[in-house]
Formats: sequence, C-alpha cells, structure tokens
Amino acid sequence: MARRRKVYEGKAKILYEGPEPGTLVQYFKDDATAFNNEKKGQITGKGVLNNRISEFLMLRLSDAGIPTHFVRRLNMREQLIWEVEIIPVEVIVRNVAAGSICKRLGIVEGTPLPRSIVEFCYKSDDLGDPLVSEEHITAFGWATPPEIDDMMSMALRINDILYGLFVGIGIRLVDFKIEFGRLYAEEDVRTVLADEISPDSCRLWDVKSNKKLDKDRFRRDLGGVAEAYQEVARRLGILPEGGPADMKGPSVMQ
Ligand code: TMP
Ligand code: ASP
Repeated sequence: MARRRKVYEGKAKILYEGPEPGTLVQYFKDDATAFNNEKKGQITGKGVLNNRISEFLMLRLSDAGIPTHFVRRLNMREQLIWEVEIIPVEVIVRNVAAGSICKRLGIVEGTPLPRSIVEFCYKSDDLGDPLVSEEHITAFGWATPPEIDDMMSMALRINDILYGLFVGIGIRLVDFKIEFGRLYAEEDVRTVLADEISPDSCRLWDVKSNKKLDKDRFRRDLGGVAEAYQEVARRLGILPEGGPADMKGPSVMQ
C-alpha cells in the first residue's frame, strides 16, 4: 500500500491525509511534553488510551448536540476526522483553581472557583500560548466575534456535559483545554470541536482522594502516569480488551 502523506505532526499526534477529500487520519503518539516542550517523555500506551477516551467523549458530546470533527475510530491509535481549519485559540474552562491560574492570581490549588471561568490563549508554541482577551482575538483576526460566541457557548455546554459525566464515575473535572476548527461545507462554514479531549488536556481528580488522574502526574513527576490514564479509561468502561498488556497497540504504520 502506498505510504500516506503526512499533513502535520504535533507533539502528541500526527495527521495524515484521509481516504476521502475533506477527511484526515489522526494518529495518537505515546510522546508527552510539558512546559512548552521543555520536558519530554513517553507514556507507554497513552496514544491508545487517548484515542479511546477522546472517541468516547466526542461521541457523548455529539449525542448532546455539540458538532465535532470526529467521524469514527479506525484502529488502536487512529481515528478518522473531518479536515478543519484550526482556529488558533486554545479555550480553557476552569471549575477549580489549578495550574497557571494559581500562579497568575495567587489562588491556592483546589479552591473551587465562584463560577466556571473561560479563558482564551493564543496558540503559539514560540510564545508559550499566552493568555489573550477577546480584544486581541478580534483585532488580530484570529477569530470573528460570532466565532468567539460559538466557542464560548460550546465550551460552557461541553463543561456542563463533561462535568456531569465525570462526577458519575467519581472524578472531578478541575479544568480542560479544547480547540475549535472551521468546517467548510459548500457555501457554509461551521465552528466545530476539534483536536482531542483526554487526560493530556484535562485535569481530573478523584472525588474522594483528590488523586490526580491526568498529565499533571507527568508534569510534576508524581509517578504512576500510565496507570492514571488507564484508571480513567477503566472508569469510563472503555479499557481496551486485554487490559494494560494490550496497551501498546500496533507499532507498524503504513
Ligand atoms: P494551565 O493551568 O497550565 O493553564 O492548564 C489548563 C488546562 O489546559 C489543563 O487542563 C491542561 C490544559 N493544557 C493543555 O491541554 N495544553 C497546554 O498547552 C496547556 C498549557 C494546558
Ligand atoms: N502541551 C504543552 C507542551 O507540550 C504544555 C502542557 O501540556 O503542559 O509543552
């Protein structure tokens, strides 16, 4: 079979040309980075788990009426997605103070926020994804005012849906980062949820013990990183058959 054309390679995923025009194949790697690529490592089986977890969450969101780029999972490490133009804005929703908001505003980690807070960052590795306001986004043309409204309202709805879903399995959704894309269809353009939702892009704490079940275990060298991702998949009821032994997935790529 002919080698597929690589369209883009990021820190945790690779995008290949899809089988039909307007589609891409999203491949999940085991590579992990933190602090804007300063810290690098591998989490064995992460790609397999994130492929499953992101599939599961995107399908639940889609059931609830959120438009997404997800089409279907193809195999252990790959999913078929609609090709979108990524809006260069990372949307963060926070329910509990953790990470950068603690440093920025001097809040103790774990403090519940008075209400869910949405933040925007400009997607630029060179600049370390700086926090920006709607003024910057519209002035520099990264997104239009209607697109900001779409992202804001979808982000809050996604938060409501995911918060409830995770509480049901004993996990507190502390915060998460999502990305949106422009899906072009004939004359029309729609804002849809893109990228991934996984323990790489969320903070997930066990409700009872506050144990971190996300990438902070890697960022802060807490150990048990792969086990934490497996625990999230296990609670969602989607741990791949064969359990941890089956976690590596196919290593051969066409
Ligand atoms: P922060 O507290 O470091 O700003 O992160 C907020 C949330 O966004 C947290 O769930 C981790 C996620 N995140 C990413 O997915 N990618 C990133 O590059 C950063 C900085 C955070
Ligand atoms: N994803 C970012 C990086 O690779 C930051 C992070 O998730 O902490 O540097």
